[in-house]
Amino acid sequence: MAVSQAIPITRHPYADGSYKKMLIDGQWVDAASGKKFETHNPATGELLATVAEGDAEDINRAVAAARRAFEGPWSKVKPFERQNLLLKLADLVEKNFEELSQLDTLDMGAPISRTRGTRLRVLGMLRYYAGQATALHGETIENSLPGEIFSYTLKEPVGVVGAIIPWNSPLTASVWKIGPAIATGCTVVLKPAEEAPLRLAELCMEAGIPPGVVNVVPGYGETAGAALSSHSGVDKVAFTGSHVTGQAIVRASAGNLKRVSLELGGKSPDIVFADADLDAAVPGAAMAVFANSGQICSAGTRLFVEHKIYDEFVGRVAEFGKKLQVGNGLDPNTQIGPLVSAEQMKRVSGYLSIGQQEGAKALTGGTPLTEGALSKGYFVAPTVFANVQDNMRIAQEEIFGPVISAISFKDTDELIARANATTFGLGSGVWTTNVSKAHQVAKSLRAGSVWVNCYQAMDPAVPFGGYKMSGYGRESGKQHLEEYLNVKAVWIKTG
Ligand code: NAI
Ligand code: MG
Repeated sequence: MAVSQAIPITRHPYADGSYKKMLIDGQWVDAASGKKFETHNPATGELLATVAEGDAEDINRAVAAARRAFEGPWSKVKPFERQNLLLKLADLVEKNFEELSQLDTLDMGAPISRTRGTRLRVLGMLRYYAGQATALHGETIENSLPGEIFSYTLKEPVGVVGAIIPWNSPLTASVWKIGPAIATGCTVVLKPAEEAPLRLAELCMEAGIPPGVVNVVPGYGETAGAALSSHSGVDKVAFTGSHVTGQAIVRASAGNLKRVSLELGGKSPDIVFADADLDAAVPGAAMAVFANSGQICSAGTRLFVEHKIYDEFVGRVAEFGKKLQVGNGLDPNTQIGPLVSAEQMKRVSGYLSIGQQEGAKALTGGTPLTEGALSKGYFVAPTVFANVQDNMRIAQEEIFGPVISAISFKDTDELIARANATTFGLGSGVWTTNVSKAHQVAKSLRAGSVWVNCYQAMDPAVPFGGYKMSGYGRESGKQHLEEYLNVKAVWIKTG
């Protein structure tokens, strides 16, 4: 394993340790309580910013502002004007993309190559939603009633959206909530887990998005998040994060039966058949987990390998993992950054011990990295566990670290049952050169996405979301907009 050393990028203007306020009703304000929290660079421990810490009182203010905007001037804004606002925002994000990429890297540790690599996706999303803003429409529907009654539907914005996002991809996650809200004419109160979305909020203001349409209240889940998800003035919660928090949000939503969409975690199967192009499958299967240090909801963490090639293939994936360069994400050569926090480091290290106690064998990795340049950050070696059995905890629970659990299988029927034997259903992968097998397996897997001979392909026009405990609702694509719209049926007696 190589360790990155050089860090050529100098101090970031938005992460210089200074104080950042929250955005409510177009104003940058302190928390009502005056409280602040600190965010640190997970690669070095250095202070990035102190951030106004929102709680229930700030959520109240932000929801009230979002409601006023929704019922007031924003309701008069035409679709093409919303489109223009999103296009303007996209241009500003494009102009500032390098700065935003560095900010995400500083914030949560991902290699700069990865945060820069979200460019097309982030800009594509904003421009896709911009396009959709003028394409929303109801239908005229032929009915069978006696007499003459004309029926049609209107699509109307659902209202005030509470968006709660995790830390693992701050910019993308923010755009995924703000984009559809603006496109459909909703207003939004975003509760991020860190400060990067505040920079995006600045760009929203610069783009001319009116006060109250986008509000950003950073704070903790148990306070700000809980207040937002239980708030009677919120019409919908759009959440991305763990299934445990997803369950808390569903319970909190019961008070006013608000609409909820959930993009939760997974334990996604990535399946390699003996007839696959192994030269492509080795890096594909490795990076399906190691990318973003495993902190991706759809990571292909259960690596099912046909028994004939199991030893060879898993050995090659371990070799690949061993060669990855671990270090500070700002180094352009870094392939694996730190985990986001001490808490995640503890959690993932716990699973490394559990795997070994359960009898799995770490072919590479298996330990935290605490020496030299890595000693100040939260680094874990890319890990490949072999001899993993279906019932082990490392084969069932979301680890959210760079940990592959490699499992052997014999034939396709047995494989499908085992691959589906999970409470989750987010991503899945299939590696084979046999086209009919690829289609057959894709149809049999109970998951929201199936990637064949690739992994983690994403596009703004293609829906993404979960089956089972990976959540409900879709993000990206036309379905995403439907989550932010109500349908009204109108009946007009014409006879
Ligand atoms: P989390 O699900 O607790 O946090 C995600 C967001 O929800 C954050 O903004 C947090 O402040 C908020 N939140 C937390 N508790 C809340 C509550 N009671 N009401 C409303 N909002 C609340 O995830 P966390 O604690 O950051 O990570 C723990 C584990 O969750 C990870 O190790 C990973 O396994 C999983 N996770 C999965 C993600 C995914 O995309 N699938 C994303 C983040 C975490
Ligand atoms: Mg949590």
